[in-house]
Amino acid sequence: MPEKKGFLKQFWKEKKMVGAMAPSSRFLAKKMLKNIDFNSEKVIVELGPGTGVFTKEIIRKMAPDAHLLVFELNDNFYKALKKSIHDERVILIHDTAEKVQDYLAENKFTHADCIVSSLPLSNFPKQLRESILVSSKNALKENGKYIQFQYSLQIKRQINRVFPKISIDFTPLNFPPAFVLTCKK
Ligand SMILES: C[S@@+](CC[C@H](N)C(=O)[O-])C[C@H]1O[C@@H](n2cnc3c(N)ncnc32)[C@H](O)[C@@H]1O
Repeated sequence: MPEKKGFLKQFWKEKKMVGAMAPSSRFLAKKMLKNIDFNSEKVIVELGPGTGVFTKEIIRKMAPDAHLLVFELNDNFYKALKKSIHDERVILIHDTAEKVQDYLAENKFTHADCIVSSLPLSNFPKQLRESILVSSKNALKENGKYIQFQYSLQIKRQINRVFPKISIDFTPLNFPPAFVLTCKK
């Protein structure tokens, strides 16, 4: 499958940034999105879409008047998404997730209702992790959600310091199996 091949190629090029050898499964996508109320949550942010497994599902579910800001740092993933997504509700950003507040403001949004993140946080230096978590929290509305998947709970304590309220779900139906952390502001 070309999508899987392309993903693996990016992994070999930039292991720490890509953080996985294959795109996430539809089972993980379902768990990542199940706590989003697409009728009321209309400013959605996605961090690290890769080949767009979650992006396509969000686009399918989001309201006609909702907006999706998508941050992808990898050149190849960004270019492929640019080619394949033609939806006026989507703003594709070729920049780092740390700048989420800047881009929300630039696009005249005061806050995000929820943030869906696939960033391989465990691979990042502690300071970069902290910076992404804190900017995400600041970007969210009160009670907004930061939803993050991880292959282990190794950095849960650090996430917990930024987001004291976390609920955890798990799916074995992914390679590798994954935890879904839903963090409330
Ligand atoms: C584990 S992959 C997840 C891809 C996809 N969401 C999935 O689940 O199949 C992580 C993605 O995060 C992107 N990424 C890594 N660091 C980033 C950053 N600082 N800002 C935005 N995207 C980043 C990578 O390029 C990669 O596409």
